[in-house]
Amino acid sequence: MARSKKQSPNVVVALDIGTSKIVALVAKVSSSGRMELIGMGRHPSRGLRRGVVVDIDATVDAIQHAVDAAEQMSGVTIEHVYVGIAGSHIKSYNQHSMVTVSGDEIGNHDVERVVDDAVKRISIPGDQKPLHILTQEFIVDNQPGIRQPVGMAGVSLEARVHMITGAISAVRNLSRCVENCNLRVDDIVLEQLASAEAVLLADEKELGVCLIDIGAGTTDIAVIIQGAMHHTAVIPVGGDQVTNDIAAVLRTPIHAAEDIKKNFGCALPQLVSPEEEIEVASVGDRPARCIKRHTLVDVVEARFAEIFQLIQQELHLSGYDNAIRAGGIVLTGGSSQIEGAVELAEEIFGVPVRLGLPESQNGLGSQLRDASYATGVGLLKYASEHLDGAVIHDDEPTVSESTVTHRHPREESLISKMKSWFIQQF
Ligand SMILES: Nc1ncnc2c1ncn2[C@@H]1O[C@H](COP(=O)(O)OP(=O)(O)OP(=O)(O)O)[C@@H](O)[C@H]1O
Ligand SMILES: [Mg+2]
Repeated sequence: MARSKKQSPNVVVALDIGTSKIVALVAKVSSSGRMELIGMGRHPSRGLRRGVVVDIDATVDAIQHAVDAAEQMSGVTIEHVYVGIAGSHIKSYNQHSMVTVSGDEIGNHDVERVVDDAVKRISIPGDQKPLHILTQEFIVDNQPGIRQPVGMAGVSLEARVHMITGAISAVRNLSRCVENCNLRVDDIVLEQLASAEAVLLADEKELGVCLIDIGAGTTDIAVIIQGAMHHTAVIPVGGDQVTNDIAAVLRTPIHAAEDIKKNFGCALPQLVSPEEEIEVASVGDRPARCIKRHTLVDVVEARFAEIFQLIQQELHLSGYDNAIRAGGIVLTGGSSQIEGAVELAEEIFGVPVRLGLPESQNGLGSQLRDASYATGVGLLKYASEHLDGAVIHDDEPTVSESTVTHRHPREESLISKMKSWFIQQF
């Protein structure tokens, strides 16, 4: 094999550390922003529970395997990576602020002041740290919906800001795992932000849409309205629970339950004939049995219905249930691929639902057109947008100027620079 090259400045690497699998994607970015996938590695994940690292050694081992495979395929020695983060420790806040414009027209400093002020008004618990500060909209002299107010005439400038925070300990453990593989963290990105970037259409983001990423350990949701992130939440239930339910009800080993789920699972009983039978392995040396597929489907439906009802409750409590009527819901993540998931979601939410696969344009190729790659592809897109962003190499490389627009009072290392991914991209 050819000797591997160092990671050149136009090569970005995404590391999706999921509960069931770790994926490393290597892409070359051209000057026009087009990405070419040059390597990928995938390895079963062992050290996570519900999206959070619980065993550093096992996680490091799995990351190393995925990275080794991606290095072999790309011929690049991977040095720094963009990493996804998830888990129920993630919290999000909306805040509003208003300032009087200092000159005749709005300048960068006015924008910084108003966003800084909004951020200062958010009180986050002592065990949390900011991951992203995203500007949703600016309001100039009562005129809402402005995305770029610099240069406009106005007397009053208001900003609506969305801040996402994560538990300091969870962020540190994730960084430690990556660093123990001798990799630097370019940035840590909320997984549903990345998935949203990979699978949502521009129209959906304008109209108001809810992204639901159903993984193995968690289900991550994001509400995007008028191109901006308004709400994020994590439901601590995913495909692993479906598998566990199947194993318990059908009295079959976990690995057999996982296979049965993928091969015969369905989330909507109406789609399955009452006559159909499937073979189920038994525990120990007992012989395999035949059961009605409906028995399996009832178990799957119950858990998916629970996930969707928890999301419905979350949307209702946060006041976004009506805001997503036009754009509807987009399902992604490995578990969204089960037969009937889209139909069941439509029944429960009463809005249009579709399955979101990472788009194959942008040079990434069709091998990534699988819902379980949504986060990885989104991380690559995020990385390619931030090629000019500085890499922070301090002890806590968790909040960089590329995701955080403004300094939080408790976060001295944050760089106050007006740059918001969502304002730029959505
Ligand atoms: N065809 C399929 N039908 C049903 N479930 C599937 C199918 N393919 C994959 N899954 C399930 O998808 C889950 C893995 O999805 P994904 O790769 O998105 O999760 P992850 O990123 O590892 O986990 P998380 O994001 O929760 O940390 C597993 O529970 C797996 O059983
Ligand atoms: Mg995932």
